[in-house]
Amino acid sequence: MKLSLHHEGSVFDTVVRPHLDSSIGKISHRLYGHFAEHLGKCSYGGFWVGTDCNKAEHVDGFRKNVLDALKAMPTPFLRWPGGCYADHYHWQDGIGKERLSRLGMSCGLSSEDDNTLGTHEFLDFCDRIGAEPYLAGNMGSGSVQELCDWIEYTNCAVSTKLTRTRKDNGRQHPWNVRVWGVGNESWGCGGNYTAEHYAVEYRRYATMLRHVDPSVELVVVGFEADWNRRVLELLKGHHDLVSHFSIHRYWINGGPGSKFSEEQYYTLIQEADDTEKFVVETRAILDEVAPEGSKHIGIALDEWGVWHPEVREWGPDGTHSKDVNNYEQAGTMRDAIAAAVCLEGFHRQCKSLSMANLAQVVNVLHAPIMASDDGFCLTPTYHLLHMHAGHINAEALKVSVDSKAKLPLGTPAVSATASQKDGGLTVTVVNRSYSVAHNVLVEVPATGDIKGYLLAASNPADQNTPAEPDKVTLKEFEVNRVDKGVGLTLPPASIVTLEVR
Ligand code: AHR
Repeated sequence: MKLSLHHEGSVFDTVVRPHLDSSIGKISHRLYGHFAEHLGKCSYGGFWVGTDCNKAEHVDGFRKNVLDALKAMPTPFLRWPGGCYADHYHWQDGIGKERLSRLGMSCGLSSEDDNTLGTHEFLDFCDRIGAEPYLAGNMGSGSVQELCDWIEYTNCAVSTKLTRTRKDNGRQHPWNVRVWGVGNESWGCGGNYTAEHYAVEYRRYATMLRHVDPSVELVVVGFEADWNRRVLELLKGHHDLVSHFSIHRYWINGGPGSKFSEEQYYTLIQEADDTEKFVVETRAILDEVAPEGSKHIGIALDEWGVWHPEVREWGPDGTHSKDVNNYEQAGTMRDAIAAAVCLEGFHRQCKSLSMANLAQVVNVLHAPIMASDDGFCLTPTYHLLHMHAGHINAEALKVSVDSKAKLPLGTPAVSATASQKDGGLTVTVVNRSYSVAHNVLVEVPATGDIKGYLLAASNPADQNTPAEPDKVTLKEFEVNRVDKGVGLTLPPASIVTLEVR
């Protein structure tokens, strides 16, 4: 028998109304992007175990359960190889038969990278999981020529020494990778550039890269307001060289990963909600300093998510020492709620935000998947992303939420997002409350089949582990119509998606 959330009564504390004729814009597949760095066990030991591996089931070196889970999630966009790692990465080490073993460095970690995961393997992986690739170029220890060469190698159809090498290495046709990062956090780990120095260098890089392939979309490194203003000022007259403006946002104020208090629960949810404000503020700077660029420059939130104190030595409550940090943290129901709240903002900002990449895709930080040779599980955030599949490439709709239900901070307890695609409607409703259930009426068209999916846990601190992989899972429930829509009792800290087809 299917689960029921049906609310029989006629009293609802919340009414969710999607405005079917009021589109905000298209929710690009790039807003559901992910990020894979050579850090901890995200790339090596995560999705890539190598072709010689006999400890894990794999397909041509890709861990089989991760491959299948990413395909199903879905994973439409993937950034690689960093992060901070990108500014040490030399792509030529990772092609051909002889791979150069190097010191892999990022975020205070260093280990041997045998470079068996290189350009061909990564782009092949993207093909297999249905992801558009986003390559992050090295502006820290690399050169303009090195990045020009990478673009020539991947995108050029003209016969040259590099493209003949590509063919010798097994790839006949160019991949045509569209999105390229020019440095990463260049104000910090990417070289401690000043805004002035970075802007001048960016101009040179971008000019030369566009000569190699005029159609590449280039991502400039942004940061906080002051850096953003200065970089944009210095790029005046050259804003056509910028396609996306990168900003990063990690939520760090919610206390421990799983042993958090109710107050800390709400702090994290609020921080996630404020991500939208950061996007809006960054857009305002673009409008002010680069009005001509603001028309075509998208905001790239190419790292986002929760970074718990157990895996950082910096910031509030940071408790981990640098030496032994593997960046593997708890992934609870609270983190999934935070991600759901943040995605509502992405939908509202879908005209301004051109991409967003959750950090990171396997094992590291806010990971949807935990995988090693010893075990595997999907986190609640995985299930949350899976239940959002209907929103990808759909038209985001305006939604009104009329509610008496409030959180202790006075903000609404219930929030929602909706989108339309191929004549179907998808509505996702979040009950942000730590401990209170809410009766919600979701207005939907009078006709059409409706499927309902619930993500909930008995406690917001619940998480899945390889030993207990199904503690928090997605459940389909019985949908019963009431007058005007669907009446639901949403458990505390839960997410519901209705698909009307
Ligand atoms: O995602 C981990 C790190 O966070 C990335 O390498 C870096 O870009 C950011 O500081």
